Amino acid sequence: MFAKNNLTQTDMIALSRAHTVGFSHCSRFANRLYSFSPSSPVDPDLDPTYAQKLMQACPQNVDPRIAINMDPATPQTFDNMYFQNLVTKKGLFTSDEVLFTNKASQATVIDFANNPGDFSGAFDTAIRKLGRVGVKTGNAGQIRVDCTAFNS
Ligand code: HEM
Repeated sequence: MFAKNNLTQTDMIALSRAHTVGFSHCSRFANRLYSFSPSSPVDPDLDPTYAQKLMQACPQNVDPRIAINMDPATPQTFDNMYFQNLVTKKGLFTSDEVLFTNKASQATVIDFANNPGDFSGAFDTAIRKLGRVGVKTGNAGQIRVDCTAFNS
């Protein structure tokens, strides 16, 4: 049983929907295009046509300031296209596509992709919980310069 404010798996899936608007820098997903693995430089969980488009937008050694839409279909609409993109292997980040490829979360993604009514309240619930997580102050934590790494 989860306490009221603990984020569940469904909350994490719902929050990821934030990637249906806005844009991302090429460096955040370049590994999926050029260096995924020795036998498969392009991530096999990426739709090949989408991968080609991403490579055109983000060639190797691209200007680090270049950013592209996270939702290739409806980048300015807060809709459930994000989940439809995952089903068709057009999730931009590994953390996106894994929500569909992993059996533990796949059913929720398919539900959110097919039934907009089921997910409409899920983001609200999850982002409210996130707002109550609490900010760490003083020695309890640190404000990161780069949100992906501890400050050095
Ligand atoms: C469970 C929820 C979420 C997960 C797992 C997640 C994961 C990620 C990951 C892995 C990246 C790639 C960049 C990196 O590795 O740091 C990313 C980028 C991004 N996310 Fe999320 N995210 C989540 C929720 C959100 C929310 C709630 C928002 C906005 C309200 C958001 C906005 C963004 C933006 C704007 C970027 C692009 C950053 C850049 O390229 O500079 N994400 N996210």
